[in-house]
Amino acid sequence: MTFPHLLITGGAGFIGSNFVYHALKSNLARRITVIDALTYAGNLENLSAVAADPRLTFQRLDITDRPTLDSFFASTEFTHVIHLAAESHVDRSIAGPEAFVRTNVLGTFHLLEAVRKSWSGALSLQSVADRPNRLFLHVSTDEVFGSLGATGAFTEETPYRPNSPYAASKAGSDHLARAYHHTYGLPVIISNCSNNFGPFQFPEKLIPLIILNCLQSKPLPVYGDGQQVRDWLFVSDHCRALALLLTAGRVGECYNIGGSRERTNLDLVRAICRIMDQKRPAGAPHDRLITFVADRPGHDRRYAINSSKIQSELGWQPTQAGDRALEETVDWYIENRNWWEGILSGEYHEYYARQYGA
Ligand code: NAD
Ligand code: TYD
Repeated sequence: MTFPHLLITGGAGFIGSNFVYHALKSNLARRITVIDALTYAGNLENLSAVAADPRLTFQRLDITDRPTLDSFFASTEFTHVIHLAAESHVDRSIAGPEAFVRTNVLGTFHLLEAVRKSWSGALSLQSVADRPNRLFLHVSTDEVFGSLGATGAFTEETPYRPNSPYAASKAGSDHLARAYHHTYGLPVIISNCSNNFGPFQFPEKLIPLIILNCLQSKPLPVYGDGQQVRDWLFVSDHCRALALLLTAGRVGECYNIGGSRERTNLDLVRAICRIMDQKRPAGAPHDRLITFVADRPGHDRRYAINSSKIQSELGWQPTQAGDRALEETVDWYIENRNWWEGILSGEYHEYYARQYGA
């Protein structure tokens, strides 16, 4: 299926840029427009390999800027929207929650309003159950469900119990997206995915941080006892799932997406160290760099996702690649030194400080 015109918000970020590549490669849409505010986490270099593709247009746009958003929607018609723009890092949300409420809650609200207005003439509000001619895919996280004990997994019916300002702001945006479907008939699907990793991930997140610190012989910070559990998913698996939801997901439904690859943070850090020992034997053993540091306040202990709904309805499966995807990710950071050196040089952090006063 090829959509007429797909809008990707946050398409210069980690998952967004991976999704742009996936969408172009799979010919998901005849036209693709990316909007992104280019905060510290957005990087146009992520899209440089496809910048010349005639199907792709980029516009710098902050979703909290309603007047600009309204004139943007007044000038262009979209048939499908995938909403990835967000503030996304838990530690930053603890240090400065305001930007999270602004972008994730208020920004999502403005976007939903702009889309509702734009689609008001194009929708048959009573009959959106079949394959719709318009679709809004709201991309969210498993963190909205809170923390699990030693057993069990989040399903689509698990009650929301967000614990960090990030999770609470994403929960707020999920509720707004749901309400816009329920109240206005906006054709919305919501996805809740576990921790992603892969190329283009900003190096404040655990996996790229550990890889880059190994490459620079810096300490590898492990919060608390390192026994927190996350369910890691390779970003290309997530992109495949999102494309499937756009083409075949049921309107008004929520779908959980996860890797079924739970592991403790310490185990994961050690696995990266073993890969680095092979790639960079001069620095071995890299696990000598592991340093236990103060725990994150309110740190969720365990996340696990039950993805049986998307698996049974749409036939999606995560790739069972063992640590191959992790190794591929390590290789990507080794081969793309210019990319992360540009980020570490501070220009994106400076932009962030100017923009948000943080
Ligand atoms: P990211 O931080 O790498 O990218 C976010 C992008 O949004 C950046 O390009 C940034 O410039 C842009 N952005 C931020 N504020 C904006 C604003 N006000 N207006 C327009 N653009 C803005 O995040 P990511 O890891 O790619 O996550 C993308 C989405 O997926 C988020 O909604 C996140 O909650 C969700 N998610 C992420 C993960 C994960 O593990 N990374 C897992 C599940 C869900
Ligand atoms: P992160 O990549 O920040 O994702 P999230 O908080 O959204 O799950 O962190 C993943 C896990 O790794 C989380 O349990 C916190 C932990 N962590 C560390 O132990 N050390 C670090 O330096 C970072 C950034 C995270």
